[in-house]
Amino acid sequence: MHHGTTITQFIAEEQRHAPGATGEFTALLNDIVTACKMISNQVNHGALVGALGSAGSENIQGETQKKLDVLSNQMFIQCTEWSGHVGAMASEEMDEIYEIPKEYPRGKYLLTFDPLDGSSNIDVNVSVGTIFSILRMADTDGDATERDFLKAGTEQVAAGYALYGPSTMMVLTTGNGVNGFTLDQNIGEFILTHPNMTIPTETAEFAINASNGRFWEAPVKRYVDECLAGKEGPRGKDFNMRWIASMVAEVHRILTRGGVFMYPVDAKMVEKGLGGKLRLLYEANPMSFVVEQAGGASITGKERIMEMQPEGLHQRVPVILGSRDEVERLQGYHNEG
Ligand code: AHG
Ligand code: MN
Ligand code: MN
Repeated sequence: MHHGTTITQFIAEEQRHAPGATGEFTALLNDIVTACKMISNQVNHGALVGALGSAGSENIQGETQKKLDVLSNQMFIQCTEWSGHVGAMASEEMDEIYEIPKEYPRGKYLLTFDPLDGSSNIDVNVSVGTIFSILRMADTDGDATERDFLKAGTEQVAAGYALYGPSTMMVLTTGNGVNGFTLDQNIGEFILTHPNMTIPTETAEFAINASNGRFWEAPVKRYVDECLAGKEGPRGKDFNMRWIASMVAEVHRILTRGGVFMYPVDAKMVEKGLGGKLRLLYEANPMSFVVEQAGGASITGKERIMEMQPEGLHQRVPVILGSRDEVERLQGYHNEG
């Protein structure tokens, strides 16, 4: 058993070194941790508490919402809105930004989150997670607007995810490396189990939804074809493939043993006027921050994701992230094409 540093202690000690820290940020992170513990509890109980299945509604992206999507969204809000540290929030499951109710004080941080990522996996009991990102509000005088959220990923103050897998984990960056914590269900605390996580630069494992293969752009097709050609192909080695359909689980695998994850834009999306599958503000940016802080790279194919100027709350982008050498190779193929 680990009897190490709790996440609360870790965050507080890290903030002690931050110039001018008031403790607000530490408190906000703690509320997010509580939200993830609550969501973890619901996810763990699944069918026992009637939490599985569809909610019978759609989100702004036209996706059917699961009961747990809606519940997780409510729990995240409930744990973070009251404290006076948050100015407004944006989530995959809410069309518009969420303003802090009048009875609570407003704070200087903006929160974006995907309350339950990979929720198509929920009913089949495969790992899902929560992704979050924290931004600082430029102007705290007036009410927050959508425009306040449209900041490049490089402006993130912190980001991370909770993974509800065989064990529940929390992986976090405040721009000073990446640390992983495992929930000890008996004491209800996340304990530091994966200090200073780093992504190996080389890998022989890739992740992509190959059913979209016929719609891919040439550089992605080339990369995957070369991996599939294995030892006899231009790469001169065999590759392995994984597709979990939970970005959180894929990113966690990559942080643990390396790899590359791709959800590129394809012809089918372009036809629908979409820029990709994954959402910039609460999926691509936070995951890019974590991956870069662990020594990996994250691009759209053409550019670094965190340098993009967001244009909308629910904007979708192509995502290619993971082991640096592979991401750079993909960038090279895109530059050529
Ligand atoms: P969400 O469940 O929050 O809508 O996100 C699911 C995302 C991502 O986690 C995963 O990588 C991808 O969608 C899976 O897409 P496919 O079903 O097309 O494979
Ligand atoms: Mn998601
Ligand atoms: Mn989701």
